[in-house]
Amino acid sequence: MERLVIVGGNRLEGELRVSGAKNAVLPLIAATLLTRKPCVLEGVPDLRDVAVMMEVASFLGAEVKKEGESLYIHPAGAASREILPPLMRRLRASNLVMGPLLGRWHYFKVAYPGGCAIGSRPMDLHLKGFVAMGASIVEKQGFIEAKASRLRGADILLDFPSVGATENIMMAAVLAEGVTLIRNAAREPEIVDLQNFLNKLGARIQGAGQDVIRIEGVKELTGASHRVIPDRIEAGTYLAAVAGTKGKVFLRGARYDHMAAVIAKLREMGARVEEDPAGIRLEAEGRLKAVDCRTLPYPGFPTDMQPQIMALMTTAKGTSILCESIFENRFRHAAELKRMGADVKIEGKIAVINGVSKLSGAVVEATDLRAGAALVVAGLMAEGVTYVEGVHHLDRGYERMESKFQSLGAQLTREREG
Ligand code: UD1
Repeated sequence: MERLVIVGGNRLEGELRVSGAKNAVLPLIAATLLTRKPCVLEGVPDLRDVAVMMEVASFLGAEVKKEGESLYIHPAGAASREILPPLMRRLRASNLVMGPLLGRWHYFKVAYPGGCAIGSRPMDLHLKGFVAMGASIVEKQGFIEAKASRLRGADILLDFPSVGATENIMMAAVLAEGVTLIRNAAREPEIVDLQNFLNKLGARIQGAGQDVIRIEGVKELTGASHRVIPDRIEAGTYLAAVAGTKGKVFLRGARYDHMAAVIAKLREMGARVEEDPAGIRLEAEGRLKAVDCRTLPYPGFPTDMQPQIMALMTTAKGTSILCESIFENRFRHAAELKRMGADVKIEGKIAVINGVSKLSGAVVEATDLRAGAALVVAGLMAEGVTYVEGVHHLDRGYERMESKFQSLGAQLTREREG
């Protein structure tokens, strides 16, 4: 087991290049299973989640090879349509193969997926969409099995704009007969990226980024090459760390238009944030101010940035109220922040954070990916040494985190525990 050792208190300053977005790459890899032709994804980050998704694609018969930031996938041989529990449980996003398998083979049998322990995370919306398109679904003994003799376009209204359900239904609909409409669709930039990639493959999709997506089924797809969008959550995490250490940064490649809600909150807290054609600049001085914040589907404030903003609130001047409206169990970092001296009270979906003048280093545990990110931000802000255990969670979603932070002047190293 490894842990991070952070000597806090350094002002972070410098320039960083943002990596490709984890949450865009995972559905893109799944989407390649819809074609027989070779595909190339560029700007693919080195992350554990990406490596597991590559294993999933290769288990399903695709040839997968990563060279630097380029990922080559040749799905011609893809043949298996079944995935057993050990592989499915390693990654929540493994459920994104359901749409492509159903679309291309009209059949899949997959074990329930794993992923971050941040809530019950059901898949009813994905499955309702498949049923509306003509699939029959059986859930038993830990597996979901879907069959369809024909897959037909359908008019589907999502009860909630789920990212995964929108992506899965989009992918299933690409090769279906006729037109599919997804209403109350999720509008995240990663969904627009998926539309752009699928359209390069020959799909006919329009509307991603708005709340109705229209997919006109086509007979078959070709191959394509595609550059993945930058990771707005990675970028937001670095902006938070720099704001919390009263620093200054230029994030090369960060997309301002994808990060409006996070930037608005950081500004409200007192940081100066500027758009630049090549990225985003942030500079912060003095103590940040308390704010209220509620997580919402895009373009609202992302739940994946909620733990990091809570870390900033712990030393902001005044009382902040943070409402988590997407996941029901996503405050596990609060208990760890309290070990560092934070004053946080949780009542259901609401956290009340009274800003203290400083945090102190402590031994804390990352319970999931973004909780881990919050603890790193807090450790960098704190006085003294913080040990963050459970680093494997961070490796799922942050590429070269230590060297990126070190390049900004942070004292952050990895060591074996014990
Ligand atoms: C994706 C992101 C994840 C992010 C989340 C919300 C990827 C790979 N992961 O996860 O990082 O935190 O969006 O922005 O892109 N729900 C249902 N039934 C369903 C599906 C979802 O009730 O069938 C609920 C979930 O329990 C949750 C909410 O909808 O409360 C949002 O989930 P969803 O948008 O589906 O998240 P994911 O796609 O799993």
